[in-house]
Formats: sequence, C-alpha cells, structure tokens
Amino acid sequence: MLKQIIGATLLLALPAAAQTAQVSVTVDTSKPGAEIDRHIYGQFAEHLGHGIYEGIWVGENSKIPNIHGYRKDVVEALKKIHVPVVRWPGGCFGDLYDWRDGIGPRAKRPVRINIHWGGVTEDNSFGTHEFMNFAELIGADAYVSLNVGSSTPYAQSQWLEYMTSDSKSSLANERRKNGRDKPWTVKFVGIGNETWGCGGNMRADYAADINRRYATFANTPREMGTLKIASGSHDDNFDFAETMMKDGGKFDGMSVHYYTVPRVFKDKGPALGFPEAEWASTLNHALHIGEIVSKTAAIMDKYDPDKKIGMYVDEWGTWYDPTTGSTPGFLVQQNSLRDAEVAALSLNIFQRHSDRVKGANIAQMINVLQAMIMTDGAKMVLTPTYHVFDLYQVFMGATPYPAGVSGPDYAKGVPMVDVSAARGRDGKLYLALVNTDPSKPAHVVTNLTGAAKGQILTGPAMDSHNSFAAPGAIRPVAFSGTTDNGKLAVDLPAKSVAVLKVE
Ligand code: AHR
Repeated sequence: MLKQIIGATLLLALPAAAQTAQVSVTVDTSKPGAEIDRHIYGQFAEHLGHGIYEGIWVGENSKIPNIHGYRKDVVEALKKIHVPVVRWPGGCFGDLYDWRDGIGPRAKRPVRINIHWGGVTEDNSFGTHEFMNFAELIGADAYVSLNVGSSTPYAQSQWLEYMTSDSKSSLANERRKNGRDKPWTVKFVGIGNETWGCGGNMRADYAADINRRYATFANTPREMGTLKIASGSHDDNFDFAETMMKDGGKFDGMSVHYYTVPRVFKDKGPALGFPEAEWASTLNHALHIGEIVSKTAAIMDKYDPDKKIGMYVDEWGTWYDPTTGSTPGFLVQQNSLRDAEVAALSLNIFQRHSDRVKGANIAQMINVLQAMIMTDGAKMVLTPTYHVFDLYQVFMGATPYPAGVSGPDYAKGVPMVDVSAARGRDGKLYLALVNTDPSKPAHVVTNLTGAAKGQILTGPAMDSHNSFAAPGAIRPVAFSGTTDNGKLAVDLPAKSVAVLKVE
C-alpha cells in the first residue's frame, strides 16, 4: 500500500518529464526555396466597426494623442512591426464604396449607411487622402481594393488617376487642391472583392469577364509597377480560381479568402472560455488553409507554370462569436494564445509556399476579427497575434529551407510541433517552432549545430489574453535552445510559439 502511495506521488510529481514528447526536426539547408515575400505579413483595414474610426483615426481635435488625426500609439505599434502592406477600404464595404465620398473638405463629405456592417452611418471622414497618408506614415504599401461590385470601370479608372497621376489632368489637380501635391504610389490594386459573394454574387464565368473588363481600365503610370489582383476563390470552392486562371485575362495576382472558425460558420464558438476540443478544432481548421493553398497552387501551376502570377491570401484569420455586449455587425472578438497559434501556423504555411504565395492580409488590423491591436478610448492593447507578427519580422525577405518534423500528433490532423526554417536577410538561420499541445512540452532535437537564442510566446491557459486591465499578460520573453548529443535542441513548452536565431 505504502509502495502504491509513493508510486502515485512520484507520478504526480513528475508529470512534465514523463509526458515530454520527443520530436526531431531536420532542416535541409542545401535546398533553398524562393524568397519569402515580405507582403505575406500584411494587414487588412476595412470600414467596419471600430477598425478605422477609433482604431486608426480619431481626428486632429481628439484628446487621444494623434499625428494629424491618426492615433499615435497605434502608429508607433504598427511601425514597430514594419507592416508591409495594408488593404483598404474593404471587404464588403468596398463593394459599395464611392471614392468621391471620401475626398474634399471633411465637413462637406456625404454621410452614407454602412449596410454591410451594422447599418451605422459612415461620415467618410477617413477617405483616400487619409488612407494613403496613413499607409505612408507607417511605411506600408497601399493595396486599394476597387469597387467592381457596384461601380463602373470608368469611376475606378478615375480614382486611380486621382491618386497616381503626376500630370496636369483635372483629376491630378483636384488631388493637389485637396492637399496632396505628389502622386501616391498604389502598389496593389484589387479588381474587386469576393465576386462570388458580397462583391456581386457573380457566377465564375461572369467574374472572369468582369475581371477582364475592369482590369483593362485599372491603370496607373507604368513605372509605378502596380500589381493587379483578381478576386479568386474561398474555402474549398475552387471553381472561381480555376475559371479566373483560365479566362480572367491579364492580372498579376489572384486572391484566396479563408477564415478559421472553431465549429461551423453559423455557430462559430466563443473567443474565450472554450473547451480543449475547440482549441484542437480551431488549430485543425487553421491548418486546412495549407490544403487550400496547395490546391489553388496546383490550379495556378496548370495555367501559369512559370509562376508569374502570385497567390494573395488577402483575407485570413479567426472568426468567433462576437464579444457579448458588443455591437452586432462590428465583429469584435478577443484574441488569445489560440489566435497566436493560428497566426504562427498560417504564416509557416505561407512561408513554405513562398514560390507562389506573394501576399497575405490578416483580417483585420484593429478591433475587428483576429485583430493585431485593440483600442478602447485612449487605451490600447497589443494582442498575442501582434506579438507573433513581431517575432516573425525576421522572415521578411528570408530564404526558406525545407524542414521535416518527426513526432506525435497532438490531435487528429494537428502535428504537435510545426516548424519553419529560413535564412534571414542578415545571413542568419532562423527557426519558428509551434507547440500545438496545450499541456505537453516537447523536446525537439534538430540536425543543426550551434546555439540558438530568441523569444517565446506562451501563457498559463489556452485562452490567455491581453486585456485593457492587464495589457502585458502575454508577451514574448527571452528563450534559448539547448544541446542534445552535440545537436541543437529546443525544450518547447506546451502551447507556445518560439522564434530562434541559430548562431
Ligand atoms: O473581414 C470581414 C468580411 O469578410 C469582409 O468584408 C469580406 O470580404 C469577408 O467576407
């Protein structure tokens, strides 16, 4: 009996060691892949809820510290992570957007109804000048999504001329009169958004024809090198991608949209306080984007074997039930360690597909869906997702290597450890490691030698998060590798994301 009690006590005392999973990782540095395009770490900012208003824009007269109307705290946070591209103004909002509503003296701009997002009034105080100047302020490329759902090719062509012409045309002069002398650079132009849904409920053939027509007139000065992104497929519906590639005319990129929900779209599940089964299903659903990217890439390979056309996952992220008490239609949800894992797993997938995926925009930048940042009045909080993007900056423009993982699955379709490896622009080798198991640590032994130092993001609970009361509850902390038989090893805690530099 005594022996049994001692045995049981020992078991309780040694659970971590006993349960540590053994994982091996093999990085093949002899097979460098295509450069990881920095635009895969992009963001999406739509006129939705408090994404733009209060999130980015408070106006020059606000008591909240601002730079010409843009929140100072937000601008600084975004600059820190070197946001490469921002997509605007929608989303579904863009499919009803009249660019003329958002220029000229703010007090004279028309007030419209934002029919897609809560039916609230939109006073257009954030328009073309405010967006383009914001992108410049944070050092990001502008991705302007044109309205092909309800506007004309002529109107969209005029918008582009207004923004980008250096001539003495009436539109360029109107821009000057409105306060901007030099043209802005529009790096990306979206030929519509979700043509299969809120962008017009089109059929695939019609969408391909619409792309041909609108793309013909969506022009900027040649030297600007603007890339035209056609609206492609979503989820597992590949017909729009196939038809667009086959019949869509000329374009430089094609979009893919994919949202991760824990359950099903009509009953998504809460952002916090979820059971472990929903941690597992969320990660499983997040990883499904890998299959979607692979299948879309296979379609693209058929029509574009030289990979001249990029895949742009220009909307992705988690989508949960809205926070209780928030305005319906504002898509407010908390962001926890689970979101950090989704972000890291998704970015690892995009990095692995660097030959085809040339851009991605997380939905969305501030206060909406899988937000990078949340604000409440003068307060601001950086989410776990923001911290992942911060850690992953070393992969911008890096050269990826194939990395094989041998180890257990945490759940069905969810390997316990996920790895991405790449040589950064500084010549150093970087590893991103994700432990998807919420309770088991992993002892990861690599085929590499040397020491590794970096940072790790983890927390006590699956739904650990930052709140306005405790904004620093989850943040990256210093973390180092170790050695095992002369090889670089990493003791990866449960539910964690680590990025390490190998010296
Ligand atoms: O990001 C929210 C919405 O999701 C976008 O407006 C739309 O494009 C997508 O369906």
